[in-house]
Amino acid sequence: MALRLGDAAPNFKAKTSVGEIDFYEYLGDSWGVLFSHPADYTPVCTTELGRTALLSEEFAKRNVKVLALSVDPLDKHKGWISDINETQNCNVDFPIIADEDRNVATLYDMIHPNASATATVRSLFIIGPDKTVKLFITYPASTGRNFFEVLRVIDSLQLTANYSVATPANWNAGEDVIVVPSISTEDAIKKFPKGVKEVKPYLRYTPQPNID
Ligand code: BEZ
Repeated sequence: MALRLGDAAPNFKAKTSVGEIDFYEYLGDSWGVLFSHPADYTPVCTTELGRTALLSEEFAKRNVKVLALSVDPLDKHKGWISDINETQNCNVDFPIIADEDRNVATLYDMIHPNASATATVRSLFIIGPDKTVKLFITYPASTGRNFFEVLRVIDSLQLTANYSVATPANWNAGEDVIVVPSISTEDAIKKFPKGVKEVKPYLRYTPQPNID
């Protein structure tokens, strides 16, 4: 059965462009992003991996480890990584899994047979430090994902995990956030010294707590 939010992210061992890894050991206490690509030497994937590499400091700042996957072999990955570095002006230093036997793709339901019998779709999973699935998105092969959106979701998930706040529609970092429904307004006023604006008893805003 396909993975759902809150499920344990399956562990695996895999060959990658930086050596053999155990997924859980690789993640350690970090958050994780695991994302699949239809194949090596494809144009959209080339830009996605380049964009991810260019955002490596943003992922590191958020304590996120990135791991990419395609079902092509390691020697192909190596040549493709040089092309990505050359064309996207970046340095891909995160692992790319060579999932030739489709083990990881099957565990994470990344092959959708009615889209393609052999290639993985553009799935992306965000895994929390507790090794559970916090988000997944699946895009068609022809649509590159928006990695600013991935960072935005990570910011939102981390705010919820650390401060008991949620984020409203179209929220961007620095904007007001929402007090989660499980906290009473009385408790929210004590918990959020920057102030609480009660629009309705169930709709309370507070300034983003982790910025000055
Ligand atoms: C790709 O880059 O992976 C791709 C581009 C167009 C259609 C399908 C896949």
